[in-house]
Amino acid sequence: MLSHPATARKGNLIACAGMTLAIIGTIFIHDEKVQPMVYTLILSAIGVGTIAGWMTAKKVQMTKMPELVSIFNGMGGACAALISLIEFQHMGHEAMPVTPEGGMDLTGLVEMLKNMANQGGMSHTAKLAMIMAGLVIGSVSFAGSIIAWAKLNGTLNKPIRLPQYNITNNILMLGLFVYAFLIVNGNVEGIMHVYLLFAAALLYGVMFVLPIGGADMPVVISLLNSFTGLAAACGGFMYNNKAMLTGGILVGSAGTLLTLVMCKAMNRPLSNVIFGAFGAGSSGAAAGRELTGNIKEISITDAAVLMNYSKKVIIVPGYGLAVAQAQHVIHELENILEERGVEVKYAIHPVAGRMPGHMNVLLAESNVSYDKLVEMEEINPEFSNTDVVLVVGANDVVNPAAHNDPASPIFGMPILDVENAKNIIVNKRSMNAGYAGIENELFYNPKNSMLFGDAKSALTKLVSELKAMD
Ligand code: TAP
Repeated sequence: MLSHPATARKGNLIACAGMTLAIIGTIFIHDEKVQPMVYTLILSAIGVGTIAGWMTAKKVQMTKMPELVSIFNGMGGACAALISLIEFQHMGHEAMPVTPEGGMDLTGLVEMLKNMANQGGMSHTAKLAMIMAGLVIGSVSFAGSIIAWAKLNGTLNKPIRLPQYNITNNILMLGLFVYAFLIVNGNVEGIMHVYLLFAAALLYGVMFVLPIGGADMPVVISLLNSFTGLAAACGGFMYNNKAMLTGGILVGSAGTLLTLVMCKAMNRPLSNVIFGAFGAGSSGAAAGRELTGNIKEISITDAAVLMNYSKKVIIVPGYGLAVAQAQHVIHELENILEERGVEVKYAIHPVAGRMPGHMNVLLAESNVSYDKLVEMEEINPEFSNTDVVLVVGANDVVNPAAHNDPASPIFGMPILDVENAKNIIVNKRSMNAGYAGIENELFYNPKNSMLFGDAKSALTKLVSELKAMD
């Protein structure tokens, strides 16, 4: 149900109900004796968390959604890390049963092993490994998500790249593995080492996200989301709790898939997102090919006439539409055109905007019918029998350099083939580049005309013009 906007809300509610049942089951269905105070504490914590989460999510603006996802994801990572810190201390007591004289307590040891077998048969080492994995992955996810949040809300507005940051980061990551292994293997002992590992993992989380540009944050958040899922799954193993294990694996695999889908739609390997941003390469490839030719402008009146007498219009929404908050006026434009007998559809590129599903959510907010939103593969063959394509605040996702210019950084990225339409109108404020920082050869196409201006004000004028033409 989550894979289609029409059913996603219901899917979320069902998932929510399932999780509630799992939480209730975990709290109340077990053999251990629990003091009533523990229930009071747990239920109070759930109450505080629910109210805080509910109110924040209710209040958040649609354009601030990636920040919210990032913070919530960070909380999940922190939770997994804290569980590991607490459980390590429990392990400490279980691990070394000693006699009052300080010798080895064989009976205690047998008793401990029996307990473990009853709890799901996980060996001491395996449990310790799960604790360390949960600690490291959860901490990286927490620290990374906080940096991602700061980048998205503009607090940290530039990628910070220390000299040789890739090498430093990889050494730090390797160090984390080795240190965790030494703890699990018993080469180093004591809670101090666990706290040190915790601190090092937090540092790695910060260092991992700091060099990545703000525009790549959706991919990073999705990746960190999958880390949080993995960390929670470690908790599920540790407690032999199937609901936690299943939930964690679900988040882990969904996050990984989403990350890969985004990378594929941008035609960039994940390594390129993590280790280098657009325009940051030494080859200067971001420049692409020199473009020459004429740029044609179109007036509001001519654009209105062209669309009014069309049979079929396809609207391509992009990041600029979201920035201008032009989703309501574009729906108004669609309604007017449909009233005049023009068939109108929206072409949705998988990475149009700055987060997955950005355009779908934005247009759903203004009640655009879901069946009008057509995905890239499906709509591409339709452009050739379209009279007018209206591109609003989109740039890279319609750049033919992806097909024609092997030197372009977006070469190979799947795009919307708008150049096949009979007429193209592009609305943006200037000739400035989009996210990839490259020029767009579409603007020089003889079939293309530029409608310069802010999306909201240009579309509002277009709507008035169309109304006046009645
Ligand atoms: P972009 O290529 O970023 O182009 C957006 C265009 O909107 C800009 O060229 C800008 O031109 C224009 N614009 C900005 N504000 C405007 C306003 N108020 N009114 C009218 N136009 C405005 O966007 P896109 O085509 O949607 O492509 C998305 C890009 O983001 C892709 O490169 C994609 O790889 C990347 N990306 C997406 C995601 C996801 S999941 N969506 C994740 C990471 C990266 P002016 O300044 O001239 O107005």
